[in-house]
Amino acid sequence: MKHLVSISDLDRKEIETILQLASGAHKQLPNKILCSLFFEPSTRTRLSFEAAALRLGMNTLGTENALLNSSSSKGESLEDTIRVVSSYADVIVLRHPHNEAALIASQVSTVPIINAGCGSDEHPTQTLTDLFTVNQRMGRLENLNIGFVGDIKNSRTVHSLAKASQQFNNVQCYYFPVIGLEDPTLVGEHKNVTSLSLHIGDLDVLYVTREQKERGSDSSSYFILTEALIAQMKTTAIILHPLPRNAELPTYVDKNMRAAYFDQAANAVAVRQGIVQYLLNPR
Ligand code: NCD
Repeated sequence: MKHLVSISDLDRKEIETILQLASGAHKQLPNKILCSLFFEPSTRTRLSFEAAALRLGMNTLGTENALLNSSSSKGESLEDTIRVVSSYADVIVLRHPHNEAALIASQVSTVPIINAGCGSDEHPTQTLTDLFTVNQRMGRLENLNIGFVGDIKNSRTVHSLAKASQQFNNVQCYYFPVIGLEDPTLVGEHKNVTSLSLHIGDLDVLYVTREQKERGSDSSSYFILTEALIAQMKTTAIILHPLPRNAELPTYVDKNMRAAYFDQAANAVAVRQGIVQYLLNPR
Protein backbone atom coordinates (compact mmCIF):
# COMPACT_ATOMS: atom_id res chain seq x y z
CA MET A 1 0.00 0.00 0.00
CA LYS A 2 1.30 3.44 -0.93
CA HIS A 3 0.53 6.74 0.80
CA LEU A 4 1.13 10.23 -0.54
CA VAL A 5 2.32 12.11 2.55
CA SER A 6 5.21 14.04 0.97
CA ILE A 7 6.00 14.73 -2.65
CA SER A 8 9.25 12.89 -1.86
CA ASP A 9 7.18 9.69 -1.63
CA LEU A 10 7.16 9.79 -5.45
CA ASP A 11 10.24 9.44 -7.62
CA ARG A 12 10.43 11.11 -10.99
CA LYS A 13 9.08 8.07 -12.80
CA GLU A 14 6.06 7.90 -10.50
CA ILE A 15 5.38 11.62 -10.95
CA GLU A 16 5.47 11.14 -14.71
CA THR A 17 3.18 8.11 -14.47
CA ILE A 18 0.59 10.11 -12.50
CA LEU A 19 0.78 13.00 -14.99
CA GLN A 20 0.26 10.51 -17.83
CA LEU A 21 -2.69 8.94 -16.02
CA ALA A 22 -4.11 12.45 -15.61
CA SER A 23 -4.01 13.12 -19.34
CA GLY A 24 -5.18 9.70 -20.48
CA ALA A 25 -8.44 7.83 -20.40
CA HIS A 26 -9.38 7.15 -16.81
CA LYS A 27 -9.95 3.62 -15.59
CA GLN A 28 -13.16 3.44 -13.59
CA LEU A 29 -13.06 2.43 -9.93
CA PRO A 30 -16.68 1.55 -9.19
CA ASN A 31 -17.60 0.48 -5.65
CA LYS A 32 -14.56 2.25 -4.22
CA ILE A 33 -15.07 5.00 -1.65
CA LEU A 34 -13.04 8.17 -1.22
CA CYS A 35 -13.33 9.89 2.15
CA SER A 36 -12.29 13.54 2.47
CA LEU A 37 -11.44 14.60 6.02
CA PHE A 38 -10.81 18.33 6.06
CA PHE A 39 -9.78 19.94 9.35
CA GLU A 40 -9.07 23.24 7.55
CA PRO A 41 -11.01 25.29 4.98
CA SER A 42 -10.78 24.36 1.30
CA THR A 43 -12.54 25.05 -1.98
CA ARG A 44 -10.42 23.61 -4.79
CA THR A 45 -8.66 20.75 -3.10
CA ARG A 46 -11.67 19.07 -1.51
CA LEU A 47 -14.11 19.68 -4.34
CA SER A 48 -11.67 18.66 -7.06
CA PHE A 49 -10.84 15.45 -5.16
CA GLU A 50 -14.53 14.67 -4.80
CA ALA A 51 -15.18 15.55 -8.45
CA ALA A 52 -12.24 13.32 -9.42
CA ALA A 53 -13.67 10.43 -7.41
CA LEU A 54 -17.13 10.88 -8.90
CA ARG A 55 -15.67 10.99 -12.41
CA LEU A 56 -13.89 7.72 -11.65
CA GLY A 57 -17.24 6.18 -10.76
CA MET A 58 -16.35 6.13 -7.05
CA ASN A 59 -18.54 7.16 -4.15
CA THR A 60 -17.55 9.88 -1.72
CA LEU A 61 -18.09 10.62 1.92
CA GLY A 62 -16.42 12.97 4.33
CA THR A 63 -16.56 16.07 6.41
CA GLU A 64 -15.54 19.52 5.32
CA ASN A 65 -15.23 20.96 8.82
CA ALA A 66 -13.78 18.05 10.72
CA LEU A 67 -12.50 20.13 13.64
CA LEU A 68 -16.12 20.86 14.55
CA ASN A 69 -18.10 18.13 12.82
CA SER A 70 -16.06 15.02 13.58
CA SER A 71 -15.42 13.43 16.97
CA SER A 72 -12.22 15.46 17.05
CA SER A 73 -14.45 18.07 18.77
CA LYS A 74 -15.13 15.47 21.47
CA GLY A 75 -11.41 14.98 22.03
CA GLU A 76 -10.82 11.98 19.76
CA SER A 77 -7.23 11.61 18.60
CA LEU A 78 -6.40 11.81 14.90
CA GLU A 79 -5.06 8.25 15.14
CA ASP A 80 -8.39 6.89 16.40
CA THR A 81 -10.37 8.83 13.79
CA ILE A 82 -8.16 7.48 10.99
CA ARG A 83 -8.19 3.90 12.33
CA VAL A 84 -11.98 3.94 12.18
CA VAL A 85 -12.44 5.85 8.92
CA SER A 86 -9.97 3.57 7.16
CA SER A 87 -12.44 0.75 7.77
CA TYR A 88 -15.15 2.75 5.95
CA ALA A 89 -13.29 4.01 2.86
CA ASP A 90 -10.71 2.84 0.32
CA VAL A 91 -8.68 6.05 0.33
CA ILE A 92 -8.57 9.02 2.74
CA VAL A 93 -7.81 12.58 1.68
CA LEU A 94 -6.65 14.53 4.73
CA ARG A 95 -6.17 18.25 5.31
CA HIS A 96 -5.04 19.28 8.77
CA PRO A 97 -3.44 22.25 10.57
CA HIS A 98 -0.55 20.15 11.94
CA ASN A 99 2.53 19.48 9.82
CA GLU A 100 2.83 15.85 10.94
CA ALA A 101 -0.85 14.89 10.59
CA ALA A 102 -0.63 13.01 7.27
CA LEU A 103 2.43 11.10 8.45
CA ILE A 104 0.73 10.14 11.72
CA ALA A 105 -2.40 9.12 9.79
CA SER A 106 -0.34 6.96 7.41
CA GLN A 107 1.09 5.05 10.37
CA VAL A 108 -2.32 3.82 11.53
CA SER A 109 -4.38 3.75 8.33
CA THR A 110 -5.24 0.51 6.57
CA VAL A 111 -5.93 2.42 3.31
CA PRO A 112 -3.84 4.99 1.38
CA ILE A 113 -3.61 8.45 2.98
CA ILE A 114 -3.37 11.43 0.65
CA ASN A 115 -1.97 14.62 2.17
CA ALA A 116 -4.24 17.43 0.95
CA GLY A 117 -2.18 20.07 2.77
CA CYS A 118 -0.96 19.70 6.35
CA GLY A 119 0.16 22.78 8.25
CA SER A 120 2.83 24.82 6.51
CA ASP A 121 4.78 21.71 5.56
CA GLU A 122 3.62 20.11 2.31
CA HIS A 123 0.84 19.94 -0.27
CA PRO A 124 2.00 17.24 -2.69
CA THR A 125 -1.17 16.94 -4.77
CA GLN A 126 -1.07 20.69 -5.52
CA THR A 127 2.48 20.12 -6.76
CA LEU A 128 1.31 17.46 -9.20
CA THR A 129 -1.31 19.91 -10.48
CA ASP A 130 1.38 22.60 -10.77
CA LEU A 131 3.69 20.27 -12.71
CA PHE A 132 0.86 19.16 -15.00
CA THR A 133 0.11 22.82 -15.78
CA VAL A 134 3.76 23.70 -16.38
CA ASN A 135 4.06 20.78 -18.79
CA GLN A 136 0.79 21.70 -20.51
CA ARG A 137 1.87 25.31 -21.04
CA MET A 138 5.65 24.96 -21.51
CA GLY A 139 5.84 21.46 -23.02
CA ARG A 140 8.59 20.44 -20.59
CA LEU A 141 9.47 19.87 -16.95
CA GLU A 142 13.22 20.35 -17.47
CA ASN A 143 15.41 23.38 -18.16
CA LEU A 144 13.26 25.80 -16.19
CA ASN A 145 13.86 28.75 -13.91
CA ILE A 146 11.13 28.87 -11.28
CA GLY A 147 10.74 31.95 -9.10
CA PHE A 148 8.68 31.69 -5.92
CA VAL A 149 7.45 34.97 -4.50
CA GLY A 150 5.63 35.94 -1.30
CA ASP A 151 5.23 33.82 1.81
CA ILE A 152 7.98 31.27 1.27
CA LYS A 153 8.09 30.35 4.95
CA ASN A 154 4.49 29.21 5.39
CA SER A 155 3.39 28.21 1.87
CA ARG A 156 3.18 24.42 1.81
CA THR A 157 2.65 24.56 -1.96
CA VAL A 158 6.11 26.12 -2.36
CA HIS A 159 7.78 23.55 -0.12
CA SER A 160 6.41 20.61 -2.11
CA LEU A 161 7.02 22.06 -5.58
CA ALA A 162 10.56 23.09 -4.62
CA LYS A 163 11.28 19.50 -3.51
CA ALA A 164 9.75 17.99 -6.65
CA SER A 165 11.69 20.31 -8.95
CA GLN A 166 14.97 18.79 -7.73
CA GLN A 167 14.01 15.57 -9.53
CA PHE A 168 14.03 17.26 -12.96
CA ASN A 169 17.15 18.18 -14.93
CA ASN A 170 18.33 21.74 -14.85
CA VAL A 171 15.43 23.21 -12.89
CA GLN A 172 16.65 26.17 -10.90
CA CYS A 173 14.59 27.58 -8.02
CA TYR A 174 14.78 31.23 -6.96
CA TYR A 175 13.02 32.47 -3.84
CA PHE A 176 11.82 36.04 -3.42
CA PRO A 177 10.35 36.09 0.08
CA VAL A 178 8.63 39.07 1.58
CA ILE A 179 10.82 40.24 4.48
CA GLY A 180 10.30 38.01 7.51
CA LEU A 181 8.75 35.20 5.41
CA GLU A 182 11.98 33.46 4.29
CA ASP A 183 12.68 29.72 4.41
CA PRO A 184 16.45 29.23 4.09
CA THR A 185 16.16 25.42 4.19
CA LEU A 186 14.96 25.25 0.57
CA VAL A 187 17.42 24.30 -2.18
CA GLY A 188 17.95 27.15 -4.65
CA GLU A 189 18.94 30.82 -4.78
CA HIS A 190 17.50 33.03 -2.09
CA LYS A 191 16.98 36.67 -2.99
CA ASN A 192 15.15 39.61 -1.51
CA VAL A 193 11.69 40.34 -2.88
CA THR A 194 12.86 43.81 -3.93
CA SER A 195 15.33 42.19 -6.34
CA LEU A 196 12.57 40.38 -8.25
CA SER A 197 12.62 43.08 -10.94
CA LEU A 198 16.30 42.25 -11.62
CA HIS A 199 15.59 38.56 -12.16
CA ILE A 200 12.01 38.34 -13.41
CA GLY A 201 13.18 38.40 -17.04
CA ASP A 202 15.05 35.11 -16.49
CA LEU A 203 12.08 33.20 -15.08
CA ASP A 204 10.02 30.63 -16.98
CA VAL A 205 7.57 30.17 -14.11
CA LEU A 206 6.58 32.84 -11.59
CA TYR A 207 4.84 31.15 -8.65
CA VAL A 208 2.94 33.72 -6.58
CA THR A 209 1.67 32.95 -3.09
CA ARG A 210 -0.81 34.46 -0.66
CA GLU A 211 0.27 35.63 2.78
CA GLN A 212 -0.57 32.67 5.06
CA LYS A 213 -2.13 34.75 7.83
CA GLU A 214 -3.72 31.71 9.45
CA ARG A 215 -0.19 30.44 10.13
CA GLY A 216 0.96 33.64 11.78
CA SER A 217 2.35 35.50 8.76
CA ASP A 218 1.84 39.21 9.30
CA SER A 219 3.70 41.47 6.92
CA SER A 220 3.16 45.21 6.94
CA SER A 221 3.86 45.45 3.20
CA TYR A 222 3.16 42.26 1.30
CA PHE A 223 4.11 41.74 -2.36
CA ILE A 224 1.86 42.83 -5.24
CA LEU A 225 2.44 41.68 -8.82
CA THR A 226 2.47 44.94 -10.75
CA GLU A 227 1.95 45.47 -14.47
CA ALA A 228 5.49 46.89 -14.61
CA LEU A 229 6.91 43.61 -13.29
CA ILE A 230 4.85 41.51 -15.70
CA ALA A 231 6.03 43.64 -18.62
CA GLN A 232 9.59 42.47 -17.91
CA MET A 233 8.70 38.77 -18.09
CA LYS A 234 9.54 36.51 -21.03
CA THR A 235 6.59 36.24 -23.38
CA THR A 236 6.77 32.47 -22.98
CA ALA A 237 6.79 32.58 -19.16
CA ILE A 238 3.77 31.60 -17.09
CA ILE A 239 2.29 32.86 -13.83
CA LEU A 240 1.05 30.23 -11.36
CA HIS A 241 -0.81 30.71 -8.07
CA PRO A 242 -2.37 27.88 -6.07
CA LEU A 243 -5.31 30.15 -5.17
CA PRO A 244 -7.11 31.55 -3.26
CA ARG A 245 -5.58 34.90 -4.08
CA ASN A 246 -5.60 38.12 -2.14
CA ALA A 247 -4.18 41.48 -3.22
CA GLU A 248 -0.83 39.98 -4.37
CA LEU A 249 -2.40 38.85 -7.66
CA PRO A 250 -4.62 41.67 -8.96
CA THR A 251 -7.42 40.75 -11.34
CA TYR A 252 -5.78 42.78 -14.14
CA VAL A 253 -3.31 39.90 -14.47
CA ASP A 254 -6.12 37.53 -15.49
CA LYS A 255 -6.21 38.75 -19.09
CA ASN A 256 -2.44 38.42 -19.50
CA MET A 257 -1.50 35.48 -21.72
CA ARG A 258 0.97 34.31 -19.05
CA ALA A 259 -1.77 33.80 -16.45
CA ALA A 260 -2.13 30.03 -15.97
CA TYR A 261 -3.70 29.85 -12.51
CA PHE A 262 -7.28 29.15 -13.58
CA ASP A 263 -6.00 26.35 -15.84
CA GLN A 264 -4.01 25.16 -12.83
CA ALA A 265 -7.20 25.02 -10.73
CA ALA A 266 -9.17 23.33 -13.53
CA ASN A 267 -6.44 20.72 -14.11
CA ALA A 268 -6.82 19.63 -10.48
CA VAL A 269 -9.67 17.23 -11.28
CA ALA A 270 -7.79 15.24 -13.95
CA VAL A 271 -4.60 15.24 -11.90
CA ARG A 272 -6.42 14.04 -8.79
CA GLN A 273 -8.07 11.32 -10.88
CA GLY A 274 -4.55 10.26 -11.82
CA ILE A 275 -3.41 10.33 -8.19
CA VAL A 276 -6.34 8.24 -6.91
CA GLN A 277 -5.98 5.76 -9.78
CA TYR A 278 -2.26 5.42 -9.11
CA LEU A 279 -2.61 4.89 -5.37
CA LEU A 280 -5.41 2.37 -5.71
CA ASN A 281 -3.58 0.46 -8.47
CA PRO A 282 0.12 1.24 -8.20
CA ARG A 283 2.07 -0.28 -11.09
C1 NCD B 1 -3.24 26.36 -1.01
C2 NCD B 1 -3.18 25.69 0.34
O1 NCD B 1 -4.20 25.27 0.90
O2 NCD B 1 -2.05 25.56 0.82
N1 NCD B 1 -4.51 26.29 -1.59
C3 NCD B 1 -4.82 25.22 -2.38
O3 NCD B 1 -4.90 24.10 -1.94
N2 NCD B 1 -4.99 25.46 -3.69
C4 NCD B 1 -2.69 27.74 -1.00
C5 NCD B 1 -3.23 28.73 -0.03
O4 NCD B 1 -4.16 28.47 0.72
O5 NCD B 1 -2.70 29.85 -0.04
